[in-house]
Amino acid sequence: MKRIIFLASGIALIAFGAAANIQLTNTVDGSPLDLSFAMDEGRDTAAVKTFLQSGTNPYTGDDAVLPEGEELFLTACSGCHGHYAEGKIGPGLNDAYWTYPKNETDKGLFETIYGGAQGQMGPQYGSLTLDEMLKTIAWIRHLYTGDPAAAVWLTAEQRAAFKPYEKPEARPRKP
Ligand code: HEC
Repeated sequence: MKRIIFLASGIALIAFGAAANIQLTNTVDGSPLDLSFAMDEGRDTAAVKTFLQSGTNPYTGDDAVLPEGEELFLTACSGCHGHYAEGKIGPGLNDAYWTYPKNETDKGLFETIYGGAQGQMGPQYGSLTLDEMLKTIAWIRHLYTGDPAAAVWLTAEQRAAFKPYEKPEARPRKP
């Protein structure tokens, strides 16, 4: 009997652990986001778990995920937002101006990517896993060209160390 209770509470804990502790909402109408549309792959990585518990993206500021984040951005986003997120048919994502102010947090940016916004900006859960969305966010934050002081999505420590993105061709050549 004891064993059964133990087992049952274990299952309840697992089920609870998989749920979001933060409320994720649609960027346009504020309705709750339904995470059940997410791809099976990449749903329960350590980063996704941390994000769903706290709303912070552990990949932001982690240089190790940048190559993958870049690849994902170039596949899923740059056709509309530009190679360097400078803007094309979709708005620029590399400065501190946001149509939807909540995109200045990684939670808000995730909500816009997962649930979409208006017109051509459809929900992206069909093209990226939850984990890939977090990596794409890290790359978008890396592409920021504005004043680091306005990068409220970074921690104070990250802001102090942040170097605004320079396109490869704009970088001075080493003598
Ligand atoms: C088919 C074109 C298209 C694709 C693909 C696309 N977007 Fe968009 N995106 C748009 C358009 C158009 C808007 C403007 C929508 C609006 O204002 O509601 C937009 C808006 C946004 C915004 C809101 C910006 C702001 O200023 O608040 C973010 C963030 C964003 N897109 C991120 C992404 C990311 C990340 C990807 C790739 C995973 C992506 N988009 C893929 C067309 C696209």
